[in-house]
Amino acid sequence: SIFIDTLAKAQAQEELNKDDLKVLLSADGEEASLLFKHADAVREKYLGKEVHLRGIIELTNYCKQNCHYCGLRRGNEQLSRYRLTYREILTTAEQAVALGYKTLVLQGGEDSYFSARDIYELVKEIKKMDVAVTLSLGEHDFDTYKLWREAGSDRYLIKHETADPHLYEHLRPGKRLKQRLQCQSWLKELGYELGSGCMVGLPGQTLDTLAEDLLLLKKMDVDMAGIGPFIPHPQTPLASAQQGTLEMTLKMVALARIIMPLVHLPATTALGTIHPEGREKALQAGANVVMPNVSPSEYRALYQIYPNKICIRDEPVHCRSCITGKIKALGRVVSTTRGHSPKGGITR
Ligand code: SAM
Ligand code: SF4
Ligand code: FES
Repeated sequence: SIFIDTLAKAQAQEELNKDDLKVLLSADGEEASLLFKHADAVREKYLGKEVHLRGIIELTNYCKQNCHYCGLRRGNEQLSRYRLTYREILTTAEQAVALGYKTLVLQGGEDSYFSARDIYELVKEIKKMDVAVTLSLGEHDFDTYKLWREAGSDRYLIKHETADPHLYEHLRPGKRLKQRLQCQSWLKELGYELGSGCMVGLPGQTLDTLAEDLLLLKKMDVDMAGIGPFIPHPQTPLASAQQGTLEMTLKMVALARIIMPLVHLPATTALGTIHPEGREKALQAGANVVMPNVSPSEYRALYQIYPNKICIRDEPVHCRSCITGKIKALGRVVSTTRGHSPKGGITR
């Protein structure tokens, strides 16, 4: 069959073109299982059994953007807003480091309350704790990214969201895909390890677009790709849209692994939200990273990007042992390193 022929091409490590990717994205049932199995083998061969944990601290749920998909959008007036104080952030970071996290991700809405200097000071302070720092704070100018890099930030996570420029512009009012990719290029130029990614199942997205998403990740030569299902949020314009599926998201993760053997791929929290074993399934279809929440429990419920997010009632210490248990149950091991990009030649 055309599926078997294309899978054979993938197994022979031949380059997959857009048509090939579409064939593999159309796999179902048995075929999809074969695809996952191959991706799992590629992960094992290139990266072994190590799973990297990244602790996410959700700094603020204020956002000046109005993305149609996101519960933090400025138009959501029903959401109570919070920002962690400088002290709270440092305490949270210390606790996460004590739990053994070797990478902390500082994420938030685009909140002008925090100046570029504030973030600089914060990163400087956290870097004293002997961890890798990833920032995920949206779009900023070159000089801001430069300043944050000088503070010691190692990585930046800024997903391209969708490779379809029209869909992108529709879903992110006032924003352009080109600007997003410009940010990504700057970040690479500044020596950050780059995290990108996309949502799966956005309304208006096609198989063609999903294949483009994969090709764009490859073209941008990303170090990490966060691929998760779109989950409709009731207080957004996409409230009545369909949710992305487990199957399609897993196929995207698997193909990302197959075409980019050394990239870091998280088993996303969103996947764990739409299916109780979503993260485990992703870890067996190419993923090698998990990003547990380490935010203070009293704020977790307010960082409601999408509804029913897992772990909102759990303490950091609970998530840490929960996820370690899941990783071990799969015969894998929790990495004790910072888990820098195996692609990079950067030594720190
Ligand atoms: N504000 C920054 C940004 O947009 O890059 C970082 C925080 S933003 C909440 C992090 C990610 O959440 C986005 O890159 C997007 O992919 C994801 N996201 C937002 N709304 C979502 C939804 N309804 N379902 C799944 N993922 C969503
Ligand atoms: Fe803001 Fe990011 Fe949500 Fe868009 S996805 S509304 S930029 S937090
Ligand atoms: Fe939070 Fe399992 S990772 S409860």
